[in-house]
Amino acid sequence: MHRLALFIFSVVVLLNKGCCEYEINEEKTAMLEECAKTVVRDPHSCDFQTCVAKKSGFMLSNGTIDKSLLEATIEKDFKNKTDIMAIVKEKCLLDNLEEYGPPHMCHIGKVTNCLHLYLILNCPQWKTSEHCDKVRDRLDDCESVFP
Ligand SMILES: *[C@@H]1O[C@H](CO)[C@@H](O)[C@H](O)[C@H]1NC(C)=O
Ligand SMILES: *[C@@H]1O[C@H](CO)[C@@H](O)[C@H](O)[C@H]1NC(C)=O
Repeated sequence: MHRLALFIFSVVVLLNKGCCEYEINEEKTAMLEECAKTVVRDPHSCDFQTCVAKKSGFMLSNGTIDKSLLEATIEKDFKNKTDIMAIVKEKCLLDNLEEYGPPHMCHIGKVTNCLHLYLILNCPQWKTSEHCDKVRDRLDDCESVFP
């Protein structure tokens, strides 16, 4: 992946915080909070993503990602947003997700980035604020990199 694309990608993911108002159910919110409490959110570790993947049920206890279980999780998470579900399934169930993170990032980190990227790119409801408008502009650059 080109360095420019990586840069834009990381900026968008970092800046997005809170700009996409995507409703998640209570069960999932509780699970995310639980993982946030039990692991340190060190950006260089994949502990948080691993916790979420295991609790979501698509990562086996030995760390293997089960793609059919990942697909089931995507279907559950995007049950009311079939347009996002379709694109996430098309893009994030591939074996090679190398372009979704820096070379040394763990695989689950790239899977998570992929899921987030296509959710953000197809965000059903964008918050309006000066900050979020700027993120939006960056996203337009991103869309040309991840067609
Ligand atoms: C992890 O467990 C699954 C299911 O038991 C197995 O198919 C897979 O090969 C295991 N992976 C590793 C790396 O041991
Ligand atoms: C999905 O849609 C169903 C039926 O319209 C609704 O009952 C449910 O609350 C929705 N779920 C979410 C997470 O929005």
